[in-house]
Amino acid sequence: MDEADPRSRIALALDVPDLEAAKALIQQTHEHVGAFKVGLELYTAVGPAAVEAVHAAGAECFLDLKLHDIPATMGRSVARAASMGVAYLTVHGVAGHESLHQASVNAGSTRLLAVTVLTSLDAAALQAIGLAGGPREAAERLAKLAWRAGLRGFVTSAHECTTLRATLGEEAFLVTPGIRPAGADVGDQKRVMTPADAIAAGADLLVVGRPIRDAADPAQAAAEIARQVRLALSQ
Ligand code: C5P
Repeated sequence: MDEADPRSRIALALDVPDLEAAKALIQQTHEHVGAFKVGLELYTAVGPAAVEAVHAAGAECFLDLKLHDIPATMGRSVARAASMGVAYLTVHGVAGHESLHQASVNAGSTRLLAVTVLTSLDAAALQAIGLAGGPREAAERLAKLAWRAGLRGFVTSAHECTTLRATLGEEAFLVTPGIRPAGADVGDQKRVMTPADAIAAGADLLVVGRPIRDAADPAQAAAEIARQVRLALSQ
């Protein structure tokens, strides 16, 4: 899909409990969204059938399993996910170099994304976990670790995009959750940004969930976000 096509820049999180709800959301929004994210809730409930539903709609699947395990298990799990033909797969950067390396060499044509710091974590939460520095410093450190292990995709808040782009360069593929249109409910996210600001900050792919899923009219909400992305891309 063309980079200037807003659909190539939006992944809708299918954070729903069953296949029927997932298919309904896909059907309502696929005109405006190029990728659908199958996360822990849906994958736990229905497994690979969720991936198949996304592919059946002609869209890309973003499998957000946030894998974090020992190197052997990482490598084998990534290989299984890649064999389903998913376009994107997430692993946690904190899994460390060897696990990330095993993930990297087993990913095939699936684009691996290293989760740096969850967008729901703020500086106080990071300190409580024992991760030194604020979110920006931690995200940069984890992204560099993943880069050295061979990964070129990173999940980060849009607030860290500029730093990561400056550190890693154009080859880095930056994916940003925590996207909220102006005035939208933030929910449990802490480090949020509007779609247009995230694009301007250099995000390659925006992950949007509740602002579309919980809208009175998800199709209209997706269309409006696509409009804002198109506008930001043209500026
Ligand atoms: O509903 P909302 O737009 O906040 O959805 C964000 C989605 O992105 C959720 O599915 C969440 O699991 C995911 N995500 C995140 N922060 C990360 C990685 C993934 O919010 N660092």
